[in-house]
Amino acid sequence: MYINFWYPIIRSEDLGYDKPEKAMVLGVNLVIFRDQDGDAHVLSDTCTHRGASLGGAWSNGNAPRLINGCVVCPYHGWEFGGDGECKNIPSIGYGTKPPPRAKVDSYPVEEKYGIVFAFLGDEPEESRPPLLEVEEFGQEGWVANEVLILEVPYYYERSIENGLDPAHNEFVHPTHGFSAINRETYKVREYETEDHNQSWGFWFMHRFDSPPLPQKGSATSPDTDTPWGDEKTERSDVYAGGGTYGPNIMPTYINITADKMFRQYFFEQPVTENLTRIFFLNMRNFLLDTKHNGPIHARNKVIAQQDIDILVDLNPQRTPLSTTKEVLMPADKAIAAYREWLAKFDDMGWRIDLNEFNARNDKDMAFAIPCPARRVSGNWVLEEIPLIKNRAERKKIERAA
Ligand code: FES
Ligand SMILES: [Fe+2]
Repeated sequence: MYINFWYPIIRSEDLGYDKPEKAMVLGVNLVIFRDQDGDAHVLSDTCTHRGASLGGAWSNGNAPRLINGCVVCPYHGWEFGGDGECKNIPSIGYGTKPPPRAKVDSYPVEEKYGIVFAFLGDEPEESRPPLLEVEEFGQEGWVANEVLILEVPYYYERSIENGLDPAHNEFVHPTHGFSAINRETYKVREYETEDHNQSWGFWFMHRFDSPPLPQKGSATSPDTDTPWGDEKTERSDVYAGGGTYGPNIMPTYINITADKMFRQYFFEQPVTENLTRIFFLNMRNFLLDTKHNGPIHARNKVIAQQDIDILVDLNPQRTPLSTTKEVLMPADKAIAAYREWLAKFDDMGWRIDLNEFNARNDKDMAFAIPCPARRVSGNWVLEEIPLIKNRAERKKIERAA
């Protein structure tokens, strides 16, 4: 898990105006709320007074959770603005200036595609990776499904690798058409990876063999409506591919025919190393009527479950550091490309030291992900989440563990 990238925090529709919400991301609790203008804010959830959860439960169910655009701590009523500053400490009298060190970390926010994203890290604006631009979003001829949340009980890097893996489809997803089992002509075609046009990642396209689109009630789609309805489309192959952007964003391109396309975006939220929430934005340029959203969601859930059933049993749970502990094939080229990008993020010093974090977090130490303001001012109360300096140090640490 890495700091200094944009992470999905909560769906816009799940964040109201009258109370804060909580989310755990990168193992750390965050509080999310809207100010009087409706702008969303994401702060470290740990109150600097005595460690209560700013988004946590109130014993007095009627008490206001948000006052003057501030989130109110349920323990002693300290008020924190969207900038992370403490604006009021009731015990010293309302209107008395709180000490500056009472502040909490506040993260840059962008609300887009129906998702509140936060930049979780301290990298200054000039050098930080921007949030991925979804080019089709809002374009004529394209429609988006509501964002679907898929909660999966495994490490986010394993989830990303699975989405980059063209060799698993015919084995794991009978819904896709052919089954590779005993199909004599089966072979994954050669493909190349190249750097993404928005940088911070790569992409690839790959041609799959595919039978004519299955119809509802057919052997390959017995239970679900097919998203293309009753249309009979003959085709011999499908182009699909995708790539990554940063450690946690994965676009997938599926051209089911030359002019019928899905653009699927997985914005992954690593909750802990054993739990990931995937914010799934599914764009399409056909079946534009919203009545198709339901069947498309239902089908995607079936497909996601097929992956989950395999991935819960992977050993080890985290992506291995060394490829000598696996036997990778040419079909795994995209996975290798993803890991090369992760190695670059390691060398930027952005990887969280999970061993150190797990040993102390919630025990003798509360950690915060450093926010950009830490680069320009001192006096921060919470300890910064421990990081690994580079790839070489990561090897040392993981070998010792
Ligand atoms: S712990 Fe938050 S106000 Fe005391
Ligand atoms: Fe899959």
